[in-house]
This record gives sequence, C-alpha cells and structure tokens, in this order.
Amino acid sequence: MGACVNDYQLKLGDHEYVPIVIGGMGVDISTSELALEAARLGGIGHISDAMNQFVSDRSYGTNFSSQKGKKYQEFAENPDKSKVFFDLDHVREAQLNHVQNTMQRKSGSGGVFLNVMEKLTMHESRETLQTRLLSALDAGIDGITLSAGLHKGSFQLMAEHPRFRDAKLGIIVSSVRALKIFLRAAQKSRRLPDYVVVEGPLAGGHLGFGDDWKDFSLRAICQEVLSYLSENDLNIPVIPAGGIFTGGDAASYLAAGAAAVQVATRFTIAEEAGLPPEAKQAYIRATEDEVTVGSISPTGYLMRYLKTSPCLGSNIRPQCQTFGYVLSKEGTCAYIDAYEETGLDENGRKLSVCGKICLCHHFAKSTCYTCGHYVYRLKDTTNLLPDGTYQLPSAEHIFLDYQHSKDGKISVPVN
Ligand SMILES: Cc1cc2nc3c(=O)[nH]c(=O)nc-3n(C[C@H](O)[C@H](O)[C@H](O)COP(=O)(O)O)c2cc1C
Repeated sequence: MGACVNDYQLKLGDHEYVPIVIGGMGVDISTSELALEAARLGGIGHISDAMNQFVSDRSYGTNFSSQKGKKYQEFAENPDKSKVFFDLDHVREAQLNHVQNTMQRKSGSGGVFLNVMEKLTMHESRETLQTRLLSALDAGIDGITLSAGLHKGSFQLMAEHPRFRDAKLGIIVSSVRALKIFLRAAQKSRRLPDYVVVEGPLAGGHLGFGDDWKDFSLRAICQEVLSYLSENDLNIPVIPAGGIFTGGDAASYLAAGAAAVQVATRFTIAEEAGLPPEAKQAYIRATEDEVTVGSISPTGYLMRYLKTSPCLGSNIRPQCQTFGYVLSKEGTCAYIDAYEETGLDENGRKLSVCGKICLCHHFAKSTCYTCGHYVYRLKDTTNLLPDGTYQLPSAEHIFLDYQHSKDGKISVPVN
C-alpha cells in the first residue's frame, strides 16, 4: 500500500497544517464557506478577491457596483473607458467586508488565505492592487497568494504594513524562470515568499503557458523548482497544483519533495462552492471532449473551460462602467475591441462576439465554466441520483478523501 497525505504535514514558519490547500477560484467560487471548511479541517482554504465590490454587494448588502455604474453611466455606449476609475475607498471597504466577515467565522487549526490575481488590472493596477493587499492584511487574513502575474513589485507594495512579516505570503508560478524573476525582485523587500505554488498546464482558470502547454508537465516543472531551490539553499515550501485529482496523486507529490498540494476542480462541485446548481451538474456531466483551452479571456492568458459554457456566443455590451476589472491603464480591454469589431445581423442586432468574452459579466453571472483538465472525472467522485442529477459532496468529504485515500482510489459520498 502506498502512502497517503495524512502521513505528511505542511510547515509554514512555526505553523503546521494538513498539506491540502484549496486553490482560489474567482469570482467567489471558492466561497468563505469552502475556505472555512478547509481551515476547520486543518488545511488551507483560499477565498478570492476577484471582483471584490461585486462580491461585497451580493454577500454584504453594499451597492458599490451600482454606484460606480451610475457615476460612469455616460460611458456605457462609449468604447473609450479611459475615464472610468475605481473608488479606492470602495475597493478597501469591499475587501474589509469580505475578508473580515470570513475571518470572524474561522475555526480549527488551519488557515484562510486570499488569492489575489494581479492580472485584474482595474485600470490603475498599482493603486488598486496595493489597496486590495493592505486592506486584506488589515482585515486579518492569514496569508495572501499572488497569482496571474510576475508580482515583481507586489511584496514591496506591502512592505510598510505591520503584518508584512507575520502574514504568510506566497506566489504562483508556472516555471523556474518566473520564480527566478520574482526572487530577484523580492530582494528589494528583503523578504522571501513563505511558499511557492507551482501551477502546471492541467489547472483550471487562467494558465501560465502558451499554446504549447501540452509540452509541459507539472511533475517536471516541480522537480526543476525543487532542484533550483535546493541548489541555492533556499528553504521555500513548494506546492504543486493542476491535475492532482486523488489522494494517491497528492501523496506521490509529497513523497517527491512537495510540501503540500493545491487542488481546486474536485471542490467546484462541493455543496459549499459558489457555482450555481446547474453549473455544478454541467461540471459533473462534462466529457473529455468538452474540455478546451482557448484565448477567450481578455486578460491575454489562456484559459481552460467547458465548451458547454453559456457565455460562448454572447454579445453582451461591455460592462466596464459597472465592473471594469480588466481595464488597462489606458482604459482598454480586449473584449471592448472584439465587441466594437462585431457587426450586426440583417435585423440590426449585434452578432455573437467572436474570440473574447466579457470576463466581468460572465464571471459575475457564473456562465463561464472554467475548470481543470480532469473535470470529466468528477462523475467518478459522486453518485447519480434517481432524478438524474448528481449528488453534491460536502467539502469535508472531498477534503478527507484527499487526506486519507491511497493508490488512486476515490471514496464517493454516502448516498
Ligand atoms: C473554477 C476554477 C476557478 C479558478 N480561479 C482561479 C483564480 O481566480 N485565481 C487563481 O489563481 N487560480 C484559479 N484557479 C486555479 C486553482 O486555484 C488551482 O490552482 C488549480 O485549478 C488546481 O488544479 P485542479 O483544478 O486540477 O485541482 C481556478 C480553478 C478553477 C477550477
């Protein structure tokens, strides 16, 4: 019999965790409830601050998005969004709402961390990112994982915060090269990351690879990162992510020197996950040929998603006056360009926008089904019910299965 995850522990500083990390899944797919379950069970769960004003409005009764929409109403039809800005006080308040309300409910010995996507540029990327980071630290977050970017200046943005050295700070990279770039920049703030998540090409969400993603393997990149760190006497825990589907898979990475694993796709269908019920059923029913990788995201990163995603073929008008999370510093977004280039049908109606989706609108509506490569194996993790739908497992069930199962086995929930 092989080893299982329960034979290992993750040490970050003087804190010990069950070495299972639930990855951040925006927009609010990795809910507070999901992250809190991971923490209760001794692991680490992420919440995400993607579209934090929208999340605060939906969960905490604020109305930041509609205030912004009203203020910039005149730009609704205007492709030039260069004058549409976020109110930094609102960004801060939304972050405090989301993080504080989560941390207040925390129990157990694990941690609740925040996934911060740098690529959500929000028009003024430096100012909005700094506001997000500092307010998360103020609100008592246990740790912050920086994703979707090189994060060269991000540690420095927090360097003056009293919790800069006490909160756990980590980064997500997809290559040794990206790690080296980050470490060189981190010298400035004289603070190394507390952990490095190495995300391979089979992950969900945005990918740190180009069209040649199939040529890369998580195991090989992970090994390269481990060798690089050991050759340079850098004692930084390495956490692989992307396609780790069973407890046995996870244990094999731990046996090879990883400190923990980061997983997400198995948890997309948890009762506590933020996807609507019909999306969870679509994830479970997915077949391998429905999974694709493409450039529909206006961030410029490739993204993995299901071909059954309702967002495909949409022609929604850009929603930047209300949202605008992907706007560049010039106030542009690749979706605005794609929308402007799209013609009208014979009845004067906008045709489907090809090639790009409005990320803000479709993530707010949960109509973009981003997923990890092995999404099509989810049906093996649960039960088909008499009414033709699939049972949704609890986060606890999935977590304990990762923690205790061996040899590629998966335990399905009790029906
Ligand atoms: C639905 C979904 C949404 C995701 N959203 C994000 C995100 O907002 N930020 C991020 O850094 N990673 C995101 N990811 C990546 C996960 O955090 C994780 O690293 C990866 O998916 C792990 O691989 P697995 O899904 O095969 O277990 C997402 C993954 C999924 C499945």
